[in-house]
Amino acid sequence: MRTEICEKLGIEYPIFAFTHCRDVVVAVSKAGGIGVLGAVGFSPDQLKQELDWIDEHIGDLPYGVDIVIPQKYEGMGEMNPEKLEAMLKDMVPDEHHEFAKKLLSEHGVPEWPDSDDEMGLLGWNEAIATLLVDEAITRPNCRLIANALGTPPASIIERIQDSGRLVGALCGKVKQAVRHKEAGLDFIIAQGTEGGGHTGEVGSMVLWPQIIDAVGDLPVLAAGGIGNGRQMLAAMSLGAAGVWTGSLWLAVEEAEAEPEQKESYFKATSEDTVRSRSWTGKPCRMLKNDWTEAWASEETPDPLGMPLQGLVTTDAIRRTHKYAGVGECQKVAFNPVGQVVGMINSVESCRDVIFRLLSEYVDAMERVNNLMPKE
Ligand SMILES: Cc1cc2nc3c(=O)[nH]c(=O)nc-3n(C[C@H](O)[C@H](O)[C@H](O)COP(=O)(O)O)c2cc1C
Repeated sequence: MRTEICEKLGIEYPIFAFTHCRDVVVAVSKAGGIGVLGAVGFSPDQLKQELDWIDEHIGDLPYGVDIVIPQKYEGMGEMNPEKLEAMLKDMVPDEHHEFAKKLLSEHGVPEWPDSDDEMGLLGWNEAIATLLVDEAITRPNCRLIANALGTPPASIIERIQDSGRLVGALCGKVKQAVRHKEAGLDFIIAQGTEGGGHTGEVGSMVLWPQIIDAVGDLPVLAAGGIGNGRQMLAAMSLGAAGVWTGSLWLAVEEAEAEPEQKESYFKATSEDTVRSRSWTGKPCRMLKNDWTEAWASEETPDPLGMPLQGLVTTDAIRRTHKYAGVGECQKVAFNPVGQVVGMINSVESCRDVIFRLLSEYVDAMERVNNLMPKE
């Protein structure tokens, strides 16, 4: 099952695991896949700490880092993070802050203990993402960088490739994949609508083969809706060079999530997710709850664009995370996850997930082979 991208990265299986947890990054790489750390929520200093820890624990195995530079966002072009943050903060109407506060207090979510500890702008802009890339490319074992929500700017692509690493990006439309290829990316991640996080409207089964055909020799990793080895075999049969997974790792043994959050994933069915702009400003698949419903109502403020809506919601993210089991926190918590959540019903270790995917893949291939006439 080794594909060209496995050779380039020095991994055994083409299984890519997107995660925000450093322990998952290390455990997946140790099991023969490759862990990719989502960096958007970290400041450059925090990312440094996370990567120090990964480097100490991963041995000589490779890993990746994921950043978010959207194709379009408010404040684009401003490369000074402080100026950008001040400019964006001025653009957020009080009404939005008030509405978010009201939702949290109605659901009994405690205030953050230190009122002076204000949340700043997260990394979904070029100004901060560039600092994150600069940190990642100092790490010998970081072998790939991926970008969400757009083709990375030419200067970022050059920086990453000049450092000897692979650069890729996610997309949910054929035209975005073609744009990625024209920009010279090394690989593409084609994510169908069923995937967790920011996602488009076309389903994986329809999107993957179209993107694979449109970009020729460029390796395409299939994302969106992969929870078992049968789905992985489907992706590989359609021509994918590997699978890029996210939801699968949210409730593993090594994941840092609160027990209440893991429980909400186990309880959820595939019908319980929604694409909502209510947390980040761009359509993102997550568990449906009172928060997503409230922002979707006609009578309430419309979510702002990215990254303005993030300035309204980062405090809610940290409070509902810290107090996950208090009051009705889970009803207003940010739980990005894909439709595959309906298949995630128990805690497994990363190693067990990888080996389950592989054995299910082999069983499914045998089944398909057995359908051929024996002669
Ligand atoms: C909790 C969560 C957060 C995500 N955040 C990001 C992100 O910051 N950057 C990114 O490139 N993809 C992000 N994604 C998308 C994943 O990289 C991946 O493409 C997706 O999870 C694949 O679909 P699946 O959830 O069905 O496996 C996120 C996914 C989840 C579940």
